Amino acid sequence: MGLVRAAAPHPNPLTAVRGEGALALRKVASPMKFFADTADVKDIADLATLGLLDGVTTNPTLIAKSGRDFKEVIKEICGLVEGPVSAECASTDYDTMLAEGRKLAKIADNVCVKVPLTWDGLRVCKALSSDGTPVNVTLCFNANQALLAAKAGAAFISPFIGRLDDTGIDGMELIREIRQIYDNYYFDTEILAASIRSVNHVKDAALAGADVMTAPPNVIRDLVKHPLTDKGLVAFVADWAKTGQKI
Ligand code: G3P
Repeated sequence: MGLVRAAAPHPNPLTAVRGEGALALRKVASPMKFFADTADVKDIADLATLGLLDGVTTNPTLIAKSGRDFKEVIKEICGLVEGPVSAECASTDYDTMLAEGRKLAKIADNVCVKVPLTWDGLRVCKALSSDGTPVNVTLCFNANQALLAAKAGAAFISPFIGRLDDTGIDGMELIREIRQIYDNYYFDTEILAASIRSVNHVKDAALAGADVMTAPPNVIRDLVKHPLTDKGLVAFVADWAKTGQKI
């Protein structure tokens, strides 16, 4: 590791501080965010009432599952949450993807354009990011891909935990690797742990220092569950009733 570090790719107050202090400051300034990985507006509206929803991610599979018009559903979701709503380009070549990204960005102020981790996707990422449009680079399966996305100015990188686990590779190790690389160079691209399948994935992503986790609504709802919480609450309610008091 050299003594002199390159400047951050774009202005970030956190980069004014160096070393351990910078990492501590990043953690204080950016608590972990929760995104819902769905295009189901009913689910999103319901989760939004919990007050813990920081954004939404969609992908073509989730849009197909919703059975709804893509741009219409993105507009509706953007009205339900204040945070970023990822809307994915459908084409794979640079020119068409860029045109699609520009159209998607016009739907609402909180649209985050999603592009795949290909050279064309990275070029689109660079172009849109330079114009001030946040980009989520998706389908990330290794640390070098994440490094490329950060260098292309991505607002978010989406490593797919569950799909790596499916192949017998520890998906969470990828989050740890990306965290280390981004911290080494003060990249401010946020690590968005995606393809989360279980509450343990959420816990492990938090332990590994992911900036964001995106999970299906059922996983988010399951986060609160513990049988001892239920059992303890039943006992407290019963004992309180015995006191005959009211608050
Ligand atoms: O955010 C990406 C995610 O939707 C992919 O999840 O479960 O299809 O691998 P999964």
